[in-house]
Amino acid sequence: MGLFSKDIKTMEDLYVHGLQDIYYAENRILRALPKMIEKTADGELKRGFQTHLKETENQVKRLERVFAMHDREAQGHKCPAIDGIIREAEDVMGEIEDPAVMNTAVIALAQAVEHYEITRYGALMAWATGLGHRQSAKLLAETLKEEKATDAKLTAIAERRINPRGDKSTARRARKKTSGRKTPAGKKTTRSVARRSASRPARKTTRRKSAARRHA
Ligand SMILES: [Fe+2]
Ligand SMILES: [Fe+2]
Repeated sequence: MGLFSKDIKTMEDLYVHGLQDIYYAENRILRALPKMIEKTADGELKRGFQTHLKETENQVKRLERVFAMHDREAQGHKCPAIDGIIREAEDVMGEIEDPAVMNTAVIALAQAVEHYEITRYGALMAWATGLGHRQSAKLLAETLKEEKATDAKLTAIAERRINPRGDKSTARRARKKTSGRKTPAGKKTTRSVARRSASRPARKTTRRKSAARRHA
């Protein structure tokens, strides 16, 4: 970015800047993930990170395809946000000895990275759509889906490891939600029961009003 000029003039410039920013971030994450894998002693977490490492390699290639679609060379733009998130993760991991504490910390630190990626891909996808770059938007949406899935997996592991009771109640809530949505025709759904109980006080009020009219 120029000292005296403003390089981002149009939405297209902003979009390309965003692509360069996330390209830098993905490459930075590629270098950070092996350290997280090395630090965690939990098998499920390790496997999860290994899977995401492969996905991240593919996400870099996907971004290169997006750059190519716009006749641009894939190029990163230094992103202080991801540098800060990763530097903090490395500092915190360097301060922990206990393996259980390490697993808990690594999950939260990795989720900070995922959340950052989710916001960036969400914006890029919307901008690509707005600018009429449908194919690019489609590719960016694929990555966004992977980042969200990784975040959800990390949440599930955290709930099982850190708060097993919370995990059970989450599962119960999920079951209730599903049973409320998809039930065979004619059967009562959670929503219909909720609607019915919400309508009860209204009927009572009507009855009370008509009784008052009779006495008047
Ligand atoms: Fe990524
Ligand atoms: Fe990611």
